[in-house]
Amino acid sequence: MIDDDGYFGENVAADYDESEASEFRPDVVDRTVDLLAELAGDGPALELGIGTGRIALPLAARGVPVHGIDLSRAMVDRLRAKPGGDAIDVTIGDFATARVEKSFSVAYLVFNTIMNLTTQDAQVDCFSNVAAHLAPGGRFVVEVMVPQLRRLPAGQQAVPFHISDTRWAFDTYDPATQAMSSNYVTIVDGRAEHSSIPFRYVWPAELDLMARLAGLRLRDRWEDWTREPFTGESGKHVSVWEKPAD
Ligand SMILES: C[S@@+](CC[C@H](N)C(=O)[O-])C[C@H]1O[C@@H](n2cnc3c(N)ncnc32)[C@H](O)[C@@H]1O
Repeated sequence: MIDDDGYFGENVAADYDESEASEFRPDVVDRTVDLLAELAGDGPALELGIGTGRIALPLAARGVPVHGIDLSRAMVDRLRAKPGGDAIDVTIGDFATARVEKSFSVAYLVFNTIMNLTTQDAQVDCFSNVAAHLAPGGRFVVEVMVPQLRRLPAGQQAVPFHISDTRWAFDTYDPATQAMSSNYVTIVDGRAEHSSIPFRYVWPAELDLMARLAGLRLRDRWEDWTREPFTGESGKHVSVWEKPAD
């Protein structure tokens, strides 16, 4: 269901932290925050798609001033309700275009959220918007999956990723358009409920071109927040682009 809050309205926000519990594990959060705090240095950070504050709150607790952008008031209400939430400034808007009158030493977009922008133009706009917010020498960090097309035999469109007695989930891919969706069928009180979120999958090299269009250059690409090398077998990447210092 989509409303003014996008795909993260009240129904999703209400149990986002519980349904994404594996991403809230302290070891996962700490690894992410360690790297972002190091990149922020003494400067402020901008989180695109700040959500309920999974990363922003612990990063702010390390002393890094964090500003967020998010479409969803329902998600941001959850952030506000948490300890420290009222100290984080949030701009409600589309992170591909929304402006904040401040410059940042690091901007970050984690947990596949770049794929919530469902057109190439919007993803390009996002890079350009980030570049406009970065101080000289500032960094843009993206964490996103590698498209799982190697799991698609010819003629197949769907990749299942969860199968249990009461819940089935699968991604669909359209290699012609790079449109993708994540689909969930859940049994609730004996009835099947279906939900679907659209995405646009994007390749690492394509992101590098978007960065180049925005005047940024690739500085690092790792398999994970622990800085393991990115290889042909990596399922995701953490990439860092830099705005030239002059
Ligand atoms: C998967 S959640 C990630 C939240 C948080 N960054 C985290 O790691 O838990 C994606 C968030 O991005 C927001 N979002 C998606 N597309 C957006 C857009 N175009 N502009 C602003 N926010 C957007 C959603 O409302 C949601 O809060």
